[in-house]
Amino acid sequence: MKLFHVAAFLAALVSCTMAGVYTNRFLELYEQIVASKSGYYSKEGVPYHSVETMMVESVDYGHETDSEALSYNIWLKAMYGEIAGDFQPFNEAWDVIENYMIPETQYNEDRYNPSNPGSTSGITVGKDPIGNELKTSYGDNRVRVMHWLSDVDNVYGFGNTQGQCESGPLASGPSFVNNGAGTVFSGITYPTCDSFKYGGSTGFSWYSSVPNWQYSAAPDADARAILGAYWASQWATQKGKISDISSTLSKAARLGDYLRYAFFDKHFKQIGNCIGGSTCPAASGKESAHYLISWYIGWGGAVNSQNGYAWRMCSGEAHIGYQNPITAYALINDPNLRSNSASAVEDWQNSLQRQLEFYKWVQTSEGPLGGGVTNSWNSNYEDPPAAVKTNTFHGMWYESQPGYQGASDWFGMQTWTVDRLAQYYYLTGDATAKSVLDKWINWILTQITVTSKKIKVPVTLSWSGNTPSDAHASVVGSGNMVGIVSSIARTLSYYAAKTGNSRAKSVAKQLLDTMWSLNRDSIGLSVTSTVSTLNQVNNKVYIPISGWTGTYPNGDKINASSNFLDIRSWYKSDANWWQLQNYLNGGPAPKINYHRFWEQADMALALGAYGILFNE
Ligand SMILES: *[C@@H]1O[C@H](CO)[C@@H](O)[C@H](O)[C@H]1NC(C)=O
Repeated sequence: MKLFHVAAFLAALVSCTMAGVYTNRFLELYEQIVASKSGYYSKEGVPYHSVETMMVESVDYGHETDSEALSYNIWLKAMYGEIAGDFQPFNEAWDVIENYMIPETQYNEDRYNPSNPGSTSGITVGKDPIGNELKTSYGDNRVRVMHWLSDVDNVYGFGNTQGQCESGPLASGPSFVNNGAGTVFSGITYPTCDSFKYGGSTGFSWYSSVPNWQYSAAPDADARAILGAYWASQWATQKGKISDISSTLSKAARLGDYLRYAFFDKHFKQIGNCIGGSTCPAASGKESAHYLISWYIGWGGAVNSQNGYAWRMCSGEAHIGYQNPITAYALINDPNLRSNSASAVEDWQNSLQRQLEFYKWVQTSEGPLGGGVTNSWNSNYEDPPAAVKTNTFHGMWYESQPGYQGASDWFGMQTWTVDRLAQYYYLTGDATAKSVLDKWINWILTQITVTSKKIKVPVTLSWSGNTPSDAHASVVGSGNMVGIVSSIARTLSYYAAKTGNSRAKSVAKQLLDTMWSLNRDSIGLSVTSTVSTLNQVNNKVYIPISGWTGTYPNGDKINASSNFLDIRSWYKSDANWWQLQNYLNGGPAPKINYHRFWEQADMALALGAYGILFNE
């Protein structure tokens, strides 16, 4: 093991164009991440959510993956191109997106009608203003963004591999899945394409009587992939290697074009003061665009061509944690990433301005960035309480927890987005970005404890207030989660590189140095988590229709008395099952050193950014 590692490291050094302490640490961690024995990737080269399979957070199994992991893979490999001079891994990482995460199976896509994107009872639905434009650019009605969730090892056995609808447990390769309503512990994982082969008499389709398909994107991940592609473009240009990646960049440009679906109200209704499902006006042009990176893009249709249909749905709910000014900047300014679609550049210009305004608007007086906004109060176009209406954003309303309760509590939602703002400031010197950053950085520096023996940074926040004018965050949990420490360090690095703030630089360095000396192990960096949440495997599953029962491909039964574990019997052969079993029998909670792909990549990117920015 050791010998292999040294050999790989030396091999990397040979082609290395940069050799500082931190760029070398980037390469060392990079080689651990990509080594097949480490277990971060499937045989197809798809990064798993985590090496460890007993993992329930956004995913319900560690060897599922999400568009988040694939987007980090792009960015990681872009930086590898900069540091090692080789952009081939970047191209291959983008192929993984095309081959496994952008769905080809979109039956009846030709039936999609932008004048009627999808009907919902009691709601007047507006017109999709970019559907025809995208069809003109790309020749068909397929939506080309990433679906967010994949069962990489086909452990559920649906076999929704690329181009297939329920080809079953023997199919090899990543299978597109959806996560059912409810929490991750109560949700029923089901196939994206449902031909009624598994589940109940109408498969897993609780609201449809015909075989159908349905995908959904998490637009922050697609945006992160474009951020990675943008840096690859910059770095490859500087090295005279842009032709190595130009065909990949055109794919990124196309993804960015479709990503504009993140800009619209769920049902293409007017943005601002949108009250009443039937009374708030349906829009026809861009009046339905809030121009923020929202929660969700959904699209689907019928499987069979008889009475076939296809639909699209967006989201009028935007979290500050999803915003990405680098992506907007890239799609406007980088000729390798710019789309030829008629209104694409103008839309991203509007988005860039709107996002910057949004950062400023949601910032609390102390520094943390509040949750976000919605165009649809209670997700139902209701009339919000008077207190909420005193301070609006383009007529939309503040929500401290947009998307779901707890969405703003995890501190990574702050650091991910502030890091991107800091990168944007580094590139442009933008004054709005600077003013938000000055306040946030001053605040975070008061919240960090770092010595050579210990790191303590915020991990959990709690929120109060009805609008940003009276919103406040308190730090209610601290720790040294790898990905939070690394994204704070990267934010401080970009800020310090532009402002010359020496305190920000030295805290970034200390965070990276202390993590590096205390938390490395044989496959990356980790901290030990006591996973007390795993007792929720006893939670009953959420069945949307009373009386519904079904069966998974492996024979596991699903009914009102089933819990998380009952419908995932394969968890009982997990390497960590003994720990969970012990816990369920009254013993201590499992202790696991998780290796989430995104966290390893985030740490490598923080080390590399520090090295590149300061030539160290
Ligand atoms: C209901 O589900 C449980 C657990 O999933 C299973 O043990 C039981 O056999 C199921 N009941 C029926 C009638 O299928």
